[in-house]
Amino acid sequence: MVKKSVFKEGSGSRKGFVSEFQDELLPKETSSNNISKVKNKLINKSSEDMSELLDNCVSLTITSPPYNIGKLSDVEMSDEEYWAMIENCFREVYRVTESGGRLVVNVANLGRKPYIPFSDKYTNLLTNLGFIMRGEIIWQKSKGANANFAWGSWLSASNPVIRDVHEYLLVFSKESMSKNNKGKSTIKKEEFMDSTLSIWNIPPARAKKIGHPAPYPTELVERFIKLYTYENELILDPFMGSGTTALGALNLKRNYIGYEINKNYIELANKRIREETN
Ligand SMILES: C[S@@+](CC[C@H](N)C(=O)[O-])C[C@H]1O[C@@H](n2cnc3c(N)ncnc32)[C@H](O)[C@@H]1O
Repeated sequence: MVKKSVFKEGSGSRKGFVSEFQDELLPKETSSNNISKVKNKLINKSSEDMSELLDNCVSLTITSPPYNIGKLSDVEMSDEEYWAMIENCFREVYRVTESGGRLVVNVANLGRKPYIPFSDKYTNLLTNLGFIMRGEIIWQKSKGANANFAWGSWLSASNPVIRDVHEYLLVFSKESMSKNNKGKSTIKKEEFMDSTLSIWNIPPARAKKIGHPAPYPTELVERFIKLYTYENELILDPFMGSGTTALGALNLKRNYIGYEINKNYIELANKRIREETN
């Protein structure tokens, strides 16, 4: 990619730098045979193999991957096995994503001894697979009042610990920033103004109430669906958990497809879909 020199002096120069520092990438030709017959279904297997899905049939993937840190929803594996599994899953996501389609990955950074920048690891892995990064949203989950109480050292410079009140939403495209088709957008003006900003304030989902250890909120999913898809398009979650992505898709007249290795979570997700969709 040829980088243009766009640095200008004076106020507002940084704004110019941010918006002009990019090249135009056009989506590939749309094929009429990339419409998936498999939709509105949860598939009980690892998303390392999504052979049920045609190439280029998904408009948007939204997901929060497992972390391999011993949570109930995690599978125990070595670091090497974990990253190999994650790479296989997202290679499949790339294959099934249409040209101009989008991917959103929700991750938190982990650990304190030392801090592990998980979001960097994901960004590297996904760009190496060919995804083009569109941006990064900071999901601010709380204003601090109910953040964790692991202070490290209290009122002392000895070892105060930084208490994260945010997670990351990493946003990518395949082959082009613009979509390669036309359709009906359903986003309102205020929603568009808010959703195109890089910090989102959304309260976390309640794990106990939902019955899954790591659900994300439906509001978060719905924001991305409205921002990045037209009605009736197909939305994928390769780590479906309690079914939040499917709920968001159905609530907004889109279709979903989901993969999940845990049979109990498939049952939970199907129950939520039956009981909670509009
Ligand atoms: C962080 S949770 C997703 C939670 C989901 N966003 C929700 O709102 O409920 C990750 C999920 O991925 C599932 N999982 C782990 N490895 C998987 C794999 N290889 N293929 C499909 N699902 C997998 C886990 O069982 C877990 O439910």
